[in-house]
Amino acid sequence: MKIEQRALNIADLRQLAKGRLPRGFFEYIDRGSEDDDAIVSNRAAYGKYKLRPRVLKNVSTRSMGSELFGKPLAMPMVVAPTGAAGLMWHQGELALAKAAASAGIPFTLSTASLTSLERIAAQAPGRLWFQLYMWPDKSMSHQLVKRAQDAGFEALVVTVDTVVAPNRECNTRNGFTLPFSVNRRNALDLALHSRWLITVVLRYMLTGGLPRLENFPRELERSLTGGSASGSALPKNDSLSWDDFRDLRKIWQGPLMVKGILHPKDALAAAEHGADGIIVSNHGGRNLDSSIAPLLALPDIVDCVGSRLQVLMDGGIMRGSDLVKALALGARAVMVGRAPLWGVAAAGQAGAAHALSILAREALRVMGQCGCSTVAELDHEILWCESQALVPDRRARSISLQ
Ligand SMILES: Cc1cc2nc3c(=O)[nH]c(=O)nc-3n(C[C@H](O)[C@H](O)[C@H](O)COP(=O)(O)O)c2cc1C
Repeated sequence: MKIEQRALNIADLRQLAKGRLPRGFFEYIDRGSEDDDAIVSNRAAYGKYKLRPRVLKNVSTRSMGSELFGKPLAMPMVVAPTGAAGLMWHQGELALAKAAASAGIPFTLSTASLTSLERIAAQAPGRLWFQLYMWPDKSMSHQLVKRAQDAGFEALVVTVDTVVAPNRECNTRNGFTLPFSVNRRNALDLALHSRWLITVVLRYMLTGGLPRLENFPRELERSLTGGSASGSALPKNDSLSWDDFRDLRKIWQGPLMVKGILHPKDALAAAEHGADGIIVSNHGGRNLDSSIAPLLALPDIVDCVGSRLQVLMDGGIMRGSDLVKALALGARAVMVGRAPLWGVAAAGQAGAAHALSILAREALRVMGQCGCSTVAELDHEILWCESQALVPDRRARSISLQ
């Protein structure tokens, strides 16, 4: 049966991914850090807002078409960078990139991906963004940025919320740390998922061997099971500062974004240091477990820098109505991480494409139900919230009848 019939929504795709992946790999996507509080609050934030539909507004020609950095978008959505997507499906990163291209939206390749950025650029059509984890040794970051520039990537996304290693206890329990090592517990887990072993691991073995972190600087590049100096995915880099970001601005010519902003003062700092955009994000609840939900951080940040920067947000988008609420609160576009990743884990490129089309279809339906035909019409007037403080300008603004 086709994936479109097997999954009606993102939660269905998550269930299918759960059935297909070894538990450790599924939890690597699904879970967060410590007690998963941030994941729960990311989702709960959408529930705080209700929509106030308008009626009889002729919504027969609805469109989510919009624009970002001077180029058209079929919908205001971007596939977020997710490391190790290539373990969820053979060539998973390529599958995600192709799905994004056919949906008419950008794909962001993670530094921690298993496919080289050159290969993505050669084989995936569409808009490509590269996500950078800065290294403590500047020359390593700059070499990677040069590779992305030479390969023709359109935009650079610098993730700044991972300078201190997150406490992902569940990955440690499951043995999902780098370098990956097989123990009694995960060996059984892997053995019970023979379809995944054959279609992913065996295929890699037959076509060049186990995948590597292809975009790590040459000095650190290694296989997933190979040794590393620190035993963690990223070397210690807690000494990074805005000066390091400013240096990137000097060498990157295209749009430059900072990912992982939750405080208005950091949004201002990003603008001051030459960013073109920011992504309001708590890394999908995978890093600081007590962090504010990005949706709740968004209005203050939009107030602060909305006229200077393109403000994107991510975290917990599982329904089209979530997308509509984020846009109504001032996001220019959203990023989606787990939704397409579950799709790719369930059915490769077709699954990722299905995830994106589910969200698009749901959002278009909700726009119609709210009486909105274009993305530009989505603003705070369609939102209701028990706490008036969470709705920007609600008290101050007089609501017009248009
Ligand atoms: C499995 C997984 C791996 C991720 N890897 C990265 C990464 O390498 N770089 C990065 O900036 N963000 C990474 N993220 C965070 C996403 O880019 C994004 O911020 C987050 O997934 C959004 O939340 P959502 O999954 O609820 O949509 C990862 C997220 C997941 C789920």
